[in-house]
Order: sequence, then C-alpha cells, then structure tokens
Amino acid sequence: MTEKIGFIGLGLMGSRMAASLITAGFEVALYNRTPAKAERLAGESAFVASTPLGLGQQARLVFMMLTGPEAIEAVLWGEQGLVGAGSGCEIIVNMSTVPPAYNRELAGRLLAQGVTFLEAPVSGSTDAAAAGSLVILTGGDATRLEEVSPYLVAMGKKLVHCGAMGQATSMKMVINLLLGIMLSGLGEAVTLGEKCGFSASEVLDTVLAGPLGCGFFQAKADMLKQGDYPAGFPVKHMLKDLNFIGTTAEDVQAEVPLGNRVRELYEQALVLGLGDDDFAAVKKVFEG
Ligand SMILES: NC(=O)c1ccc[n+]([C@@H]2O[C@H](COP(=O)([O-])OP(=O)(O)OC[C@H]3O[C@@H](n4cnc5c(N)ncnc54)[C@H](OP(=O)(O)O)[C@@H]3O)[C@@H](O)[C@H]2O)c1
Repeated sequence: MTEKIGFIGLGLMGSRMAASLITAGFEVALYNRTPAKAERLAGESAFVASTPLGLGQQARLVFMMLTGPEAIEAVLWGEQGLVGAGSGCEIIVNMSTVPPAYNRELAGRLLAQGVTFLEAPVSGSTDAAAAGSLVILTGGDATRLEEVSPYLVAMGKKLVHCGAMGQATSMKMVINLLLGIMLSGLGEAVTLGEKCGFSASEVLDTVLAGPLGCGFFQAKADMLKQGDYPAGFPVKHMLKDLNFIGTTAEDVQAEVPLGNRVRELYEQALVLGLGDDDFAAVKKVFEG
C-alpha cells in the first residue's frame, strides 16, 4: 500500500513511532492536540492536519497513540472529531494502552459507524520507539491486521498476534503489571542497600553482574544511580496502567495483590510530585 496514512498522538512514544513511518518512506498526515509537536515532524512526506477530522479527510487508515480513553474519546467524537461527518477514515489502529474492555466496547461503537477498529499496543519504551524496535501486540480481525502490517513492521521488530479484540491489551496489562512490580522491587532493594551503607552504584553493579542483570534493570540503572529520572515512561502513566490492570483483574476474577500494593506506591509517588518523572522514580517513595 502506498496511500497516505494518518497518525494521531505525537507525545513521547507517538512522535518517535510516526518518525519511523516517515523514515520508512510512507506519506503521513499528523495530528496532535498541541500542534507544535506535529509541526516538528512536518516535511516532504509528513503533513500536519489542524483537526482530527481534517486528518480523517486525508487518510483512510489512522494510527492512534494517545494517553487513554479520555483522549481517544476527545479525538474521535470531540469537536472536529476523527469520525465526524465528512471523514474518510475507514480503519483505526489503536496503539495506546487502554483497558481491554474499553477497546472491545469501542470496536462495537466504531463498527456501527462503518469503521474497522484494530488494537496494537506496544511493549518497549522511547528508545525502542526511536529505533523502530518495539514489540507490537495485535488484536482483532487477522485479515485487516495483515493489511496494516507493513506499517506496524516499520515501527516494531516483532508483531505478536494475541487473538480477538481485547486480547492484545490483555497481554499489555500482563506486561505492565510485571513492569510495575519489577521496578518498584528494584527501587526497594536498592534503598535497603543504601541504608545498609552501600552506594546505589555498588548495589546495582553487584545485582546486575548476577542472574538479575536483565536488559530492563540495565536500562534503568543509571537513573537509580544518579537519582535523576527523565521520563521514558512517566509515573502518571504507570499509575494509569495499574488502575487499568486492577479493573481488568476484576473483570477476569484474577487476584493481583502485588499489583494493588504497587499501585499504592505509585499513588504515593504522584503525591510526592513525581508524576512527570520516569516510573523508576518510585524509588523515592522508599527513601522516605
Ligand atoms: N512512554 C512509554 O514508555 C510507553 C511505552 C509503551 C506504551 N505507552 C503508552 O503509549 C501511550 C502514549 O504514551 P506517551 O508516553 O507517548 O504519552 P505522552 O507523551 O503523555 O503523550 C500522550 C499523547 O496523548 C495526547 N492527549 C492526551 N490527552 C488528550 C486529549 N484530551 N485530547 C487529545 N489528545 C490528548 C497528547 O497530546 P498533547 O501533546 O497535546 O498533550 C499526546 O499526544 C499511552 O497509552 C502509554 O501508556 C507508553
């Protein structure tokens, strides 16, 4: 396919994912609520739309990377919304992290308007988004997903088809539950080490030299060593996802006691004013 596609939501992740599409040679119409983030990406094959509807008039296939349901509702059905009268948008691929139940419900509402809805949440943070090496989880109609796969491949190193609509975001809940638990665990352990008289570097270098030296901990080590947390994935979004994980667990009658406790820790991090810091900043909660 060589048609012009649309990309909505050019934040930390979306800006890098849209850049991968542009670099891969696709023509992309861009929309972001804060226009400056779209204008930064504009170029020979990247065009800025001033409204979601304006973007829908240029592109049949649209990718979205937005915070969550509130942002999606605003983009789809707000003033000059993507699926408003006159839009030519026929397929929407939601790459945002949202509750599985929300995507299932949204798929029904969009189908009633003649729009095909697919989900493709991602595993991997800003570095992987910039490198086009995300793991992309897909859910929904397999034939339609096949149609959009050339675009997904430009953004990711691996596509994992998880099944029917809602299953990809279910897998995303699983991954982010583990992320939240692992990083708060690391923060707690390093803080214990510091209180025992070691520096954060001594603790981390020792931990990472052994069987716990996984890529995820490696990627966060410098933040913990330096006590500086520039956001890759901010605390406020981790907390959002832990709330989604809680409702998802209720929906499927699963117990997530660690997830519930970790959510409280991230709530405390938010109260400490760390919402825009990387979620590794949860360590500050243990520092007291
Ligand atoms: N960061 C990560 O490491 C990571 C990794 C995997 C998945 N995710 C998921 O990817 C999604 C995007 O994350 P991000 O880190 O890129 O977040 P972000 O930097 O906060 O970007 C959020 C995007 O949503 C837009 N938005 C928010 N509220 C809106 C509204 N009411 N109306 C219209 N647009 C609105 C923002 O527009 P403005 O620019 O105008 O604010 C921005 O484009 C989230 O679902 C997140 O959980 C993130």
